[in-house]
Amino acid sequence: MHISLLFLGASTALAATCPTCRVLPGDGAWPSPSRWQHLNSTVRGRLLATNPLAHSCHDPTYNSEICRSLQQQWGRPELQIPYPSEFLSPWFQNQSCVPFTAESSACELGNYAVYSINVTGPDDVVAGLTFAQQNNVRLVIKNTGHDQNGKGTGKGALSLWMHNLKDKTFIHAYESSYYRGPAVKLGAGVQGQEAAAFAHENGYRAVVGSCPTVGVVGGYTQGGGHSSLSGLYGLGADNVLEWEVITAAGHHVIATPQQHKDLYWALSGGGPGTYGVVLSMTTRVFADTATGAASYSFDMASTNGSADAYWNAVSTFHAYMPLLLDQGVYATYAVTNISFIVLAMIAPSHDQTELNTLMEPMLTALDRQNGLSTESLSVTTLGGSNTYDVLASHVWPVLQDASLVAVQGGRLITRANLNADLGGVMAAMRNITAGGTFYFACTGINTTTAAGVPPVADNAVLPAWRDTSVTCLVGTAWGWGQSWDPAPGWQAELLDRVLPTMEAVTPNSGAYLNEANFAQRDWQQQFYGRNYPRLVAIKKRYDPHDLFYAVSAVGSEAWATDSKGRLCRT
Ligand SMILES: Cc1cc2nc3c(=O)[nH]c(=O)nc-3n(C[C@H](O)[C@H](O)[C@H](O)COP(=O)(O)OP(=O)(O)OC[C@H]3O[C@@H](n4cnc5c(N)ncnc54)[C@H](O)[C@@H]3O)c2cc1C
Ligand SMILES: *[C@@H]1O[C@H](CO)[C@@H](O)[C@H](O)[C@H]1NC(C)=O
Ligand SMILES: *[C@@H]1O[C@H](CO)[C@@H](O)[C@H](O)[C@H]1NC(C)=O
Ligand SMILES: *[C@@H]1O[C@H](CO)[C@@H](O)[C@H](O)[C@H]1NC(C)=O
Ligand SMILES: *[C@@H]1O[C@H](CO)[C@@H](O)[C@H](O)[C@H]1NC(C)=O
Ligand SMILES: *[C@@H]1O[C@H](CO)[C@@H](O)[C@H](O)[C@H]1NC(C)=O
Ligand SMILES: *[C@@H]1O[C@H](CO)[C@@H](O)[C@H](O)[C@H]1NC(C)=O
Ligand SMILES: *[C@@H]1O[C@H](CO)[C@@H](O)[C@H](O)[C@H]1NC(C)=O
Repeated sequence: MHISLLFLGASTALAATCPTCRVLPGDGAWPSPSRWQHLNSTVRGRLLATNPLAHSCHDPTYNSEICRSLQQQWGRPELQIPYPSEFLSPWFQNQSCVPFTAESSACELGNYAVYSINVTGPDDVVAGLTFAQQNNVRLVIKNTGHDQNGKGTGKGALSLWMHNLKDKTFIHAYESSYYRGPAVKLGAGVQGQEAAAFAHENGYRAVVGSCPTVGVVGGYTQGGGHSSLSGLYGLGADNVLEWEVITAAGHHVIATPQQHKDLYWALSGGGPGTYGVVLSMTTRVFADTATGAASYSFDMASTNGSADAYWNAVSTFHAYMPLLLDQGVYATYAVTNISFIVLAMIAPSHDQTELNTLMEPMLTALDRQNGLSTESLSVTTLGGSNTYDVLASHVWPVLQDASLVAVQGGRLITRANLNADLGGVMAAMRNITAGGTFYFACTGINTTTAAGVPPVADNAVLPAWRDTSVTCLVGTAWGWGQSWDPAPGWQAELLDRVLPTMEAVTPNSGAYLNEANFAQRDWQQQFYGRNYPRLVAIKKRYDPHDLFYAVSAVGSEAWATDSKGRLCRT
C-alpha cells in the first residue's frame, strides 16, 4: 500500500513535469469546472465556452431560419471572424458541426477549441499560458481564423482569441539606427483593410494582404505576408520594426533587430503561433502614389476551342510577366482547365499610363502569338490616384468573397524555374488542371526589385521567396453544400500526384507556409529552407516546454495526434 502510493506520487510528479499527451475533455486529468471558473475570475469573466455557430442546424437546438441563413453565409470570412472559436478551413471543420449535415447528426466540437479567452491585454495572455501549462491543456492562438492548415484551432484546446486587440497608433518619425521614418503600431487583432485605411487616413500605405479581412499581425506577417506592395517593399515580415510579445514563460518583451534579436528574426517570417504570443507590431509605412491597375481574361472559347492554343496563351503570359514584376508590378490570377483570369495587375510605383506601356509587350504577344486581341481579352483599367483607392474600389470587393477550397497545396515558382523550363511548368499546370478538379490561384511577385527598399533587417523568411516570381495555391473547385465525400481522395491526390508534379518542375524552390498543405512532405525544408535548424534552436530557447504547438510549425514534429485526436509527444 505504502509503496504503491509512493509510486503513484512519483509518476504523477513525473507526468506534471513531462506529460506525454495533452488532456482532452472526459480525461480524468481534464481540469474540473471549478478550475475553469477560477481561470474565468482571473481573466475577469472573459472566458468563453465554445458553442459552435452551426449548432442551430442540429438537434436539440435546431432553428430552421437561423440555419438557412448560416448555410447562405458559411465560408464567408465576415460570418465567422466575430466569433471566438470559429475558423474557416473546411478540412479542419471536418463536418463536425457544419450547417450542411443532417439535423439529427450531433454538433460535435471536433477540432474546435473548448474554451477561449477574449484577450484584452498582457494579463489575459499570461493567465491563459499559466493555466495551460499547469493543467497540461493544449494551447492555441487565434486571430481571424483564416489559416487553412489547422494552426489557429485544436481539439481540446484553450484558445487565446486576439481579435479584439484593435489599437492603432501612427508614428510620424520612428527613430532607430535601422529605420527613420513613418510607422504604425498595430494591435494583434487589426485586419488588412483596417490597417490600410488607417495608414491612408494618415497619408501613407501599408503592406497588407489582398484579402481585406486577413489579420496583419498574426499569421500573415509572422508567416511572411505577400502584398500588392511587395514589389516595392518586400514581404510583410520585411517591414517589421518591433514585435511586442509575451513569451512562454510569461515575460513581456519587445523584440527588435537590436534587442531579443533572435526572437525578432524568428517572428519575422519563421511561422506564426510558435515562439510567443504577439500583442502588437510596429511596421514601416510609405508614401502613397498614383497606382496603375488592370484586369483581363481569356478562356478556351477565345481560342476557338483549341486546348493547345489556350495553353500557349497561358505560357505567353508567364513568359512576359517577369518583365512587369521586375518593375514592382504585382499580379493575382487564376488558372483553370479552360479559363485564365487576371483578377488584378497592380503597379504601385507606376500610374495607369505607365502600366499600360509596361503591359504592351505582353498584350502584343498574346495577340500576335495567340490571336487574342486586347478587345477579346476585355482589358479593363482600374488605376487610381493611390493604392488604397485601387484596393478599396477594385480588389477587396472581388477577393472578399473568394471561396474556400476543400483541400489546398502551394508552390513557389522561381525565376530560374521559369527560365529553365517554362514548358515543363506549363505542362505540369495543364496536367494538374485536366478534368477540372484542381485549379490554380497564383500571385506574381518580385520581392527584390532594383527599385525596392531592402528589408528592415535580416529575418527568417524562406530564402526561396527571394528568387520567386510566382506563388501558386492549387486547390479543388468545391463549394459548401456539395458532398464532402470526395475530400479525403482529393487530399491524397494532392499529396501523391499534384504536389509532386509541381515539385518536379520547380527544383530549388519551396512553398509559402501560409498557402500550402498541412501535410506537405518534407515541410521543414519546403516551408523554412536552410533557416530550419536556427529556428528550432530559437524555439527551444523561448519555449523550452513546447507550450506552443501548431501544425507544420517549427518543432511540431515532436508531436502527433493519437486515434482520439489527442496531441501526444512522439
Ligand atoms: C481568403 C484568404 C486570402 C488570403 N490572402 C493572403 C494574401 O494576400 N497574402 C498572404 O500572404 N496571405 C494570404 N492568406 C493567407 C494568410 O496570410 C494566412 O491564412 C494567415 O495565417 C492568416 O492569419 P490570421 O492571423 O488572420 O489568421 P488565424 O487563422 O487566426 O491565425 C493564423 C496563425 O497565426 C497564429 N497567430 C494569430 N495571431 C497570433 C498572435 N497574436 N501571436 C502569435 N501567433 C498568432 C495562429 O496561432 C495561427 O497559427 C489568405 C488566406 C485566405 C483564407
Ligand atoms: C465567465 O464569467 C462570465 C461573467 O461572470 C460569464 O458570463 C461566463 O459565462 C463565464 N464563462 C464560463 C466559461 O463559464
Ligand atoms: C475528421 O474526422 C474523422 C472521423 O470523423 C477523423 O478520422 C479524422 O482524423 C478527422 N480529420 C481531421 C483533420 O480532424
Ligand atoms: C470580447 O471583448 C470585447 C472587448 O471588451 C467585447 O466588445 C466583446 O463583446 C467580447 N466578445 C465576446 C464574444 O464576449
Ligand atoms: C478564332 O476564330 C476567329 C474567327 O475565325 C478568328 O478571328 C480568331 O483569331 C480565332 N482566335 C484564335 C485564338 O485562334
Ligand atoms: C499527367 O501526368 C501523368 C504522369 O506523367 C500521366 O500519367 C497522365 O496521363 C497525365 N494526365 C494528363 C491528363 O495529361
Ligand atoms: C474542364 O473542367 C470541366 C469541369 O469543371 C469539365 O467539365 C471539362 O470537360 C474540362 N474541359 C477540359 C477541356 O478539360
Ligand atoms: C527582380 O527584379 C530585379 C530587377 O528589378 C532583377 O534583377 C531580379 O533578378 C528579379 N528577381 C526575380 C526573382 O525575378
